[in-house]
Amino acid sequence: MSSQPLLPSNHPEHIASVIASKRRILFTTILTTVLLIAGIIFVSVKGEGVPSSKDPLKLANYYLKSSPVIDGHIDLPIFARAGFGNNIDNMDLYGDLKNRYGLISHLNIPKARKGHLGGFFWSIYIDCPKDAGPDFLTPYNGPRDTLEQIDVAMNLMDKYSDVFQLCKTADEVMEAVASGKIASLMGMEGAHSLGNSLGALRMFHALGVRYMTLTHGCNNAFADSGGIFQPVTPHWGGLSDLGKDLIFEMNRLGVFIDLSHVSDQTALDALSITRAPVILSHSCARAFNNISRNVPDEVLSKLGRGKHKVDGVVMVNFLPTFAAPGGVGVDVKTIADHVEYIASKTSRDHVGIGSDFDGIDAVPRGLEDVSMYPNLFAELITRGWKQDELAGLAGGNLLRAMRGMEATSLKMKQEGKKPSMAVYAKRTDL
Ligand SMILES: *[C@@H]1O[C@H](CO)[C@@H](O)[C@H](O)[C@H]1NC(C)=O
Ligand SMILES: [Zn+2]
Repeated sequence: MSSQPLLPSNHPEHIASVIASKRRILFTTILTTVLLIAGIIFVSVKGEGVPSSKDPLKLANYYLKSSPVIDGHIDLPIFARAGFGNNIDNMDLYGDLKNRYGLISHLNIPKARKGHLGGFFWSIYIDCPKDAGPDFLTPYNGPRDTLEQIDVAMNLMDKYSDVFQLCKTADEVMEAVASGKIASLMGMEGAHSLGNSLGALRMFHALGVRYMTLTHGCNNAFADSGGIFQPVTPHWGGLSDLGKDLIFEMNRLGVFIDLSHVSDQTALDALSITRAPVILSHSCARAFNNISRNVPDEVLSKLGRGKHKVDGVVMVNFLPTFAAPGGVGVDVKTIADHVEYIASKTSRDHVGIGSDFDGIDAVPRGLEDVSMYPNLFAELITRGWKQDELAGLAGGNLLRAMRGMEATSLKMKQEGKKPSMAVYAKRTDL
């Protein structure tokens, strides 16, 4: 399916042009001088040796150099919690980290550099409450633990401040990548982290959180979850009343609504009222594996460009048991199939990568860790994907959606929309 070109300012290749611009000014000055002296009227400049499409991996690496991957979901913070009690003194991101289950981290700095990882959302995740109670009011330490996950993410960014740079806007992502840093965004995974409070959402936003998944594998005061391998019994039938206020507040603040993990009805409800582009930060297509965690065609049909559609990006998850029934035979081609299928239902401008690395206990053959992204791009080159489409998949589509999300926030503030004072009706303390 063909796709319109991205706006130049959104195009990841622009990242390369930012880096190159200073060099180019110097080059232009020298070139002009040479031309004047020589009196040459016309020169043709030879191409810079673009690798042949006969070597797709080399070509993929060449493309990714100027359009690096911005992954929608990497679970390094929960890896730090489970494996190291959040003690970053014991974490060497230049080596292989091993968590308490013996799993080796999918991300370290050398692997990230090798795989052209230009940025990612650090997943701020804590477990659902064991028993939230019938009205989600059982007290638990979720909001504290969520703050600890933001703390460990920020501590790691500080420890390796020559590598990571905290980013809160699409422009900041561009700047970080242009200066050779790995752009570091934060996304919260599950509104159960909010303790039923919109005030808490505003404070997480103030700390830098730029997406929130409406649920994890449990229902919460705002919305119903899709469950993981089995559906969970709906509590609200989609969004609750407070959930609708949450959508408004996320739009107004400038926090992406993430529809991974949610029930189909929650996704449809959110899409019917959001004013901003949405994401699915780490989801596979249900067409290949009929589990509730995967995104159904009905939701995909609402995403894209044009009337009655919402702009957004579906970022494909690498977990084999999501990609295919039982996780059997999943390799880089399987993941490419998901990318192409989602693109066929939306467009190539609405796909991205949300590997779920460091949060998954199995990986596809050929996509074992963050050093391996180029294999996926090489596979798509063999299937006819062009440079601008691959740049969009890598990160350009996400940045376009993020600018749209930021623009909605600005517009709502210009319209005078005030912070929502909605309070969860079941609370009695406020
Ligand atoms: C998918 O699974 C659901 C149960 O979760 C079932 O109702 C539905 O018929 C299945 N669809 C297909 C195409 O098998
Ligand atoms: Zn998840």
